Amino acid sequence: MKIKDEFPIYEFNKDLIYLDTAASSLKPRKVIDAVSFYYSHYGVNIHRGVYNLSFEATKMYENARANIALFINADVDEVIFTRGTTESINMISNFFTCLEEGDEIITSELEHHSNFLPWLEMAKKRKVKLRFVELDEQGRITIEAFKKVLSKKTKIVALTYVSNVMGFITPIKEITKLAHNVNALVVVDGAQAVPHFKVDLKALDVDFFAFSAHKMLGPNGVGILYGKKHLLDKVEPFHFGGEMVEVVTKDNATYKDIPHKFEAGTPIISGAIGLSKAVDFINEIGFDYIETHIDKLYQYALAKLKNIEGITIYNKGNDVGLITFNIDGIHPHDAATIFDKNNICLRAGHHCAQNIHKWLKINSSLRASFYIYNTKEDVDKFIEAIIEARDFFRKF
Ligand SMILES: Cc1ncc(COP(=O)(O)O)c(C=O)c1O
Repeated sequence: MKIKDEFPIYEFNKDLIYLDTAASSLKPRKVIDAVSFYYSHYGVNIHRGVYNLSFEATKMYENARANIALFINADVDEVIFTRGTTESINMISNFFTCLEEGDEIITSELEHHSNFLPWLEMAKKRKVKLRFVELDEQGRITIEAFKKVLSKKTKIVALTYVSNVMGFITPIKEITKLAHNVNALVVVDGAQAVPHFKVDLKALDVDFFAFSAHKMLGPNGVGILYGKKHLLDKVEPFHFGGEMVEVVTKDNATYKDIPHKFEAGTPIISGAIGLSKAVDFINEIGFDYIETHIDKLYQYALAKLKNIEGITIYNKGNDVGLITFNIDGIHPHDAATIFDKNNICLRAGHHCAQNIHKWLKINSSLRASFYIYNTKEDVDKFIEAIIEARDFFRKF
């Protein structure tokens, strides 16, 4: 199959060069059709219906959960639908009501704001200390550096699996083992990992994990919160409303078991169905192909960039083919106007990760990210636009 043909956006935007998958991926026809199918054939609510349409819609929603659980090697009741990584991590941080002064949370300067601000706010509120793993000279989290901040005071380890700026894989499995030795719980931001390689949550043994559908070919506004069953069982729900309740009287209420006790209100039914289709699409293509294809494009781009004077790349040799760079002396937002003129979509700014930009001693950067629909021609056009931007702004 010609992968680009599977993405209808290229029919409507023939010259599109999309290099911003790290922000959000394009959506294949199968995913769009699955969402549309739900609305055109069902469109009704789930769980509470006593008619066939609702039974069928419920089956689709719960089958989606089972399919996603299989994809990340989790049990089905450990998979909670949320609005995305941000909501998942905020929910997880609310689970930890037992932290108190003197306790420590390990995090890093690599974190996207959605895996940093919830912990920063908690630290402020509960007088808990944030400890930062020192990054190595490349910007990686290493086991050695992690060991230096780990102690009996550590209660939570909240780290990204793959940074959306640097693109290095964090050694989460080893970190988790060490964290568990001091009884700390491990929370992982998997937003940039799940689209790129096989994530096996049982093998990783992490306690909580979050990711978003829209970065892995699925719809916007839906994502996953994974938690180990015995931990989720212990936590009280804190969103209250329909769907999650068992019995309500005037002075009491009992709640459903996991995962439903965490899904108050009408869930994102179409989103769950769309995400499941995205999982099918990724399974069909296979991570072998995904990893090889992205790496080929990445190596091709790096080889070309090597010959262009006046470019600084901040994350050479990263694991997911992310190019974070600047054109020397040119503000990323100025450069972005040239990319846009050439119908090239890439990211300019701090990418919701200001701490790592401070670490890099810059305010902002340009970021190109490749995925399965990109081609060598996309890379060629990207390189031409870099040269055009550099030469154009140098004149001033
Ligand atoms: C590493 C990482 N974590 C979290 C997020 C937040 O994801 P969402 O906006 O889908 O909640 C992103 C999105 O850019 C990300 O790249």
